[in-house]
Amino acid sequence: MIAKISSAGILGTGFYVPDTILTNVDLEKLVDTNDAWIVERTGIRERRIADKDVPMSALAFRAAQRALENAGVGADELDLIIVATLTSDRIVPSTACILQDRLGAHHAAAFDLSAACSGFVYASSVAIQFIENGIYKKVLVIGAETLSKYIDWEDRNTCILFGDGAGAAVYGEVEAGYGVLSFDLGSDGSGADAIQIPSSGSLHPVTEEMIAKKMNLIHMNGQEVFKFAVKTMGATVLTSLKKINMDRTEIDWLVPHQANFRIIQSAAKRLHLPMEKVIVNIQKYGNMSAACIPVALAEAVEQHRFRKGDIIALSGFGAGLTWASCIMRWARED
Ligand code: UT7
Repeated sequence: MIAKISSAGILGTGFYVPDTILTNVDLEKLVDTNDAWIVERTGIRERRIADKDVPMSALAFRAAQRALENAGVGADELDLIIVATLTSDRIVPSTACILQDRLGAHHAAAFDLSAACSGFVYASSVAIQFIENGIYKKVLVIGAETLSKYIDWEDRNTCILFGDGAGAAVYGEVEAGYGVLSFDLGSDGSGADAIQIPSSGSLHPVTEEMIAKKMNLIHMNGQEVFKFAVKTMGATVLTSLKKINMDRTEIDWLVPHQANFRIIQSAAKRLHLPMEKVIVNIQKYGNMSAACIPVALAEAVEQHRFRKGDIIALSGFGAGLTWASCIMRWARED
């Protein structure tokens, strides 16, 4: 990828998480675990869980409405909607199409994007291409998940980690020199089995036998993913910075994927960033996959943490395996 100065950036953000809270103490009743272990090994204290009859699109819709409002953009101004998710309402049609109708985004094209926890940054990189080349003016990017519907509540290796939520950003033209300055996307498909839902598609169609073996739920090699994440999350930000001859000392904020507090700390260390410059909300929400970064971003905006001109690095990693980062100069007066 060729780095370039772009004039596409975030106009507004929004997020939504379900009201129901599942604490570590609640989990102690389900599996052989304890609050102290979870907090020490992951940093997570609680997570949000969507009701059984609530689909991912319901969370995404609320986040999208808030992002549009925050951006001052009407749904009918949208040219494109991209939903980054691994828990779409259905395999067909895309959830982006469901939202296009529900939002009343009459002029928008719509599609889902599959890059797991790196999905929001991947989708953002697609959005800015359309804006920079003049094809589209306003693009809504959503990262949303209802992972709780794919959790094995008897598997302590995974059930303690994940939560539900949705975050959204409206991208559009911003002042020259502001917005997304650079990004780095990557993948290593040799790690495809490290995080997977084995029976979720054409390889192993869902059958009673698959369900009995819990193959329709999340399977993860935690240690392999941990090592990959530690290696990748800081490195991808350094790659993004290098493309625009920027130094890590210029970063004002890191908005990382929230998978494990120890992974976030190691990325911050690699970037020589004090933790005060890192947006962390893992203690409240756990790992919401594609929703983590946009929720953290939107929550930080709501807390007025960013100033116009701040250099913000987004960095994620996840199933695929994939990784993605981008560097943006904050264009909003908050
Ligand atoms: O979005 C990307 C998705 N996934 C990730 O980013 C996950 C990355 N990986 C991780 O965050 C960590 O590997 C985990 C949090 C999943 C596990 O932490 P760990 O420090 O790697 O633990 P471990 O798997 O090495 O297990 C250490 C011990 C084991 O016991 P023994 O063999 O030492 O007696 C486990 O059986 O901790 C035990 N253990 C638990 N104990 C209490 C594993 N899970 C639990 C648990 N509660 N929930």
